[in-house]
Amino acid sequence: MSNTDQTPTPATITIRPNGPLLVQGDVKVINSAGEEIDRGGRVAFCRCGLSKTKPFCDASHKAAGFTAE
Ligand code: FES
Repeated sequence: MSNTDQTPTPATITIRPNGPLLVQGDVKVINSAGEEIDRGGRVAFCRCGLSKTKPFCDASHKAAGFTAE
């Protein structure tokens, strides 16, 4: 995600309460094969370890009742 003047949008990482790490801004996700995965400037990384689509959150944390300090 970029501004129209091509100035990069700073990335932010938000720790969601009892949920994923939400990354928003100009970031690239590169898989283990070196391929870029397009997540549209917003990606949630699993923090609970239960996702079936790691490293991404698939909302499994909700059903599992994941809690974090
Ligand atoms: S944080 Fe959402 S599935 Fe793990």
